[in-house]
Amino acid sequence: MRRNLICGMDIGTTHVRVIVGELNTDGTISIVGVGTSPSNGLKKGVIVDLDKTVEAITDAVEEAERMVGSAIPSTFLGIIGSHVQLIDNRGVVAVAGADKEITEDDVERVLQAAKVIALPPDREIIDVIPREFIVDGYDGIYDPVGMIGVRLEVDAMVITGTITSLRNLYRCVERAGLEIEGTVLTSLANAEVALSRDELELGTVLVDIGGGTTEISVYQNGHLKNISVLPIGGDHITSDIAVGLKTTLQNAERLKLDHGIAAQHLAADDKTIELPQISGKKPRIVPVKELAMIIESRLVEILHIAAEELAEMGYQEPLPGGIVLTGGVSLTRGIVELAEQVLQSSVRVAQPGYVGVKSPIYSTAVGIIHYIQHTQMHNLKGFRGSRASIPGFFLKIKNWLLDMFD
Ligand SMILES: Nc1ncnc2c1ncn2[C@@H]1O[C@H](COP(=O)(O)OP(=O)(O)OP(=O)(O)O)[C@@H](O)[C@H]1O
Ligand SMILES: [Mg+2]
Repeated sequence: MRRNLICGMDIGTTHVRVIVGELNTDGTISIVGVGTSPSNGLKKGVIVDLDKTVEAITDAVEEAERMVGSAIPSTFLGIIGSHVQLIDNRGVVAVAGADKEITEDDVERVLQAAKVIALPPDREIIDVIPREFIVDGYDGIYDPVGMIGVRLEVDAMVITGTITSLRNLYRCVERAGLEIEGTVLTSLANAEVALSRDELELGTVLVDIGGGTTEISVYQNGHLKNISVLPIGGDHITSDIAVGLKTTLQNAERLKLDHGIAAQHLAADDKTIELPQISGKKPRIVPVKELAMIIESRLVEILHIAAEELAEMGYQEPLPGGIVLTGGVSLTRGIVELAEQVLQSSVRVAQPGYVGVKSPIYSTAVGIIHYIQHTQMHNLKGFRGSRASIPGFFLKIKNWLLDMFD
């Protein structure tokens, strides 16, 4: 059996998540491997301990490998939007062939041309995303391959990141024994899973509230317009609970997951929880309302900061597509109601639709696979001739496992 397998890896502040997807010939994806491992090597989305991060990657990869039934030699990697800059640029080339038919090589060359920008020494290019192609002055072209023309132009978005933050990430993955096949901005990965075509066009704010970070991105006219990462997330809620209820972080996390509610008024008046005490003391009784109050105040703060950030980007008014939440914190019961009230906009929670990974904690890792399929399908063996979309020249699929299964 021949298989087209690709691996997506999301190195988050609380967990490393590895997903292996099989690209079926009919264009669908099956999730065939999932691995998750708690990560203690990151703070606010940034690697602070290489060894711990390598260990978490290794554990998550091994778990996924057991499910897939073979080794995972390489992966696509999510890159968080902090320290990332989006730069608009154009590229122009002359169509090479004597018959003037535009080929994939011409498209790759024009995207390479769009990459030529003056970069400060501490930055490198993560990705180049074509917005539209222009053939002999005719714009709005989505896929120019096969067209006839003399001059091929591209209007592209160049994504750059700081070298130091990227290098540590790459080093951890390589030390865990995996080759990096390509990188995908986590925001773009999330959007693949979370946003509909209409939402992308109309204008929608995507908010990924994770453990240590909240990533806010704005999509409009089908493209990523703006991105900002706040160093605040669900781990702050946990530490507030630990301080407020005088308990350990571990207990606080458990209480949050088992009994947490996003707003005090949503909690039942008479409901209480038993809080285990150290050194054999009797458990303390805590009203659920008290827990909800702690969660609410921090969530309101996170949402307010997000709104301020959006205002700074120039989006004071809600966008027509509203707000889409994803990431672990969006699992908090009642968060949609609270967010609608605070942000005065329609809000929904998005998650992948596949059995086994139906949770917003998997949006990024699953989205990486979607993004690769979306942008790279033409590069896959067995998919040639069925171009699905614009190529991202940066990401070269190696079709690992193909040979093993031949
Ligand atoms: N059911 C739940 N209710 C409330 N919070 C939850 C729930 N499940 C997970 N969380 C919280 O979500 C956070 C983890 O989310 P996620 O896995 O998206 O983060 P991450 O990707 O590891 O971190 P980051 O994106 O910030 O680097 C943790 O703070 C966790 O407590
Ligand atoms: Mg995350």
